[in-house]
Amino acid sequence: VTATAFLDPHFAVGEVNPRLFGSFLEHLGRAVYSGVFEPEHPLADEDGLRTDVLELIRELGTTMVRYPGGNFVSGYKWEDGVGPVEHRPRRLDLAWRTTETNQFGLSEFMRFTAKTGLEPMMAVNLGTRGAAEAFELLEYCNHPGGAAYSDLRRTHGDEKPYGIKLWCLGNEMDGPWQIGFKTAEEYGRLAVVAAKAMRLVDPDLELVACGSSGRGMPTFGQWEATVLEHAYDAVDLISCHAYYQERDGDVDSFVASAADMEAFIDGVVATADYVGAKRRDPKRINISFDEWNVWYQENSPHPEPEPWSVAPRLLEDLYSVTDAVVVGSLLITLLRRSDRVTAACLAQLVNVIAPIMTEPGGPAWRQTTFYPFADAARYGRGEVLRLAVESPTHDTAVHGTVPLLHATAVRGDDGALTVFAVNRDTTRPLELAVDLRAFGGHGQGDLTGPVTHTYLADADRHAKNTLDQQDRVTPKAGPKVAPDGGVLRVELPPLSWNTIRL
Ligand code: AHR
Repeated sequence: VTATAFLDPHFAVGEVNPRLFGSFLEHLGRAVYSGVFEPEHPLADEDGLRTDVLELIRELGTTMVRYPGGNFVSGYKWEDGVGPVEHRPRRLDLAWRTTETNQFGLSEFMRFTAKTGLEPMMAVNLGTRGAAEAFELLEYCNHPGGAAYSDLRRTHGDEKPYGIKLWCLGNEMDGPWQIGFKTAEEYGRLAVVAAKAMRLVDPDLELVACGSSGRGMPTFGQWEATVLEHAYDAVDLISCHAYYQERDGDVDSFVASAADMEAFIDGVVATADYVGAKRRDPKRINISFDEWNVWYQENSPHPEPEPWSVAPRLLEDLYSVTDAVVVGSLLITLLRRSDRVTAACLAQLVNVIAPIMTEPGGPAWRQTTFYPFADAARYGRGEVLRLAVESPTHDTAVHGTVPLLHATAVRGDDGALTVFAVNRDTTRPLELAVDLRAFGGHGQGDLTGPVTHTYLADADRHAKNTLDQQDRVTPKAGPKVAPDGGVLRVELPPLSWNTIRL
């Protein structure tokens, strides 16, 4: 079976915003404590950060990190996490029913971002707090000094403002599980009030309003419309969150999860543009897909921890090859819609539904999902090209008929072309024919050089990387191939994530 992808350098979707490869660090389980921060670990540096984890984060290639939540932020007092650590209070974290020691807070987080080179994406608490606390936090972060909160930062040893540009106005405010959840009217008003106040402190911000915490939420669509009717002129982006899992062994539907993500993006773009059209407003609201991943919400790998324990094992999903292929496919969708999705965060970064795992006092290792993310973050830079695809299809119970090939292409500034491709067929290989004839003779675009093909696949689709077998699943190199008559033919193994560079 063959699928053909026709490529043309003139058909560009848009430039990839590096923020598409963001990640997420929430005060949840062991993401922070014994994840990135473990002062007692033999590999910890002077700030208590695990250098083995910092190295893996750099290798992962993530560009941005959202902090401090998630559900956690809706009960959080940022003041608890600054200043001398010995004075910081222990608090009940109601979101996850754990105890937060506050040994890691804003100051430590900013040191972490400096060391990893990640752009911080900061969330404010609009669950139990309001506009005042949001602009006070902003003053602490971004104001040079001469007023109470910015001077406080200076007395804490950070003379220079942090200059954080991208801010989330709360988290999942539509969800009944959220502390301080709201109706769209209530949240829309609060978002516009907070946004306008924050812009008075720092006019140079980019602000994200909370969209729906899932496409399945009963208020999906109406929520976005109402929130944006209040806040259109005050915000720049609206968020989407989506998590997928395999249910009842229906692997074909699971592997086609990107169809749902694509429909989600289409729906939010249509709704945002509808509000813009009514306002006759040339401004466009883009999407921050600031939580996405595979997450086995219905089968936790650990027993319920004791309530109010400190940094227990929570949401420590171990990912299979199948999960990695789905993550790759979701990345393909984010790239394909990079005209309107200008920020995205894989949720999360370490230990909690994460590409990187650690043991307290022990090693750190890469999950299967690490690899597609690292490929996309490394090579998915430049301009996305629109693919015309002719592919065989199959039927799925949840998403209807879907093409077996899911793919996108990105052209780098140096003219190098990368095709990311998923074969959704779990049993048979798929021949991918990339028709490059439209590139003929365009300088570096003649694409006759060597081709590299790496893939992630395994005879056992359930194979995982674990503490005992940390490198059970790694990418492999495909056989040497070269374009012939302007057409490149590559065999995609069954159920595989593929990166083809030419
Ligand atoms: O990422 C885990 C949780 O999922 C986040 O805290 C929340 O925002 C979402 O429901």
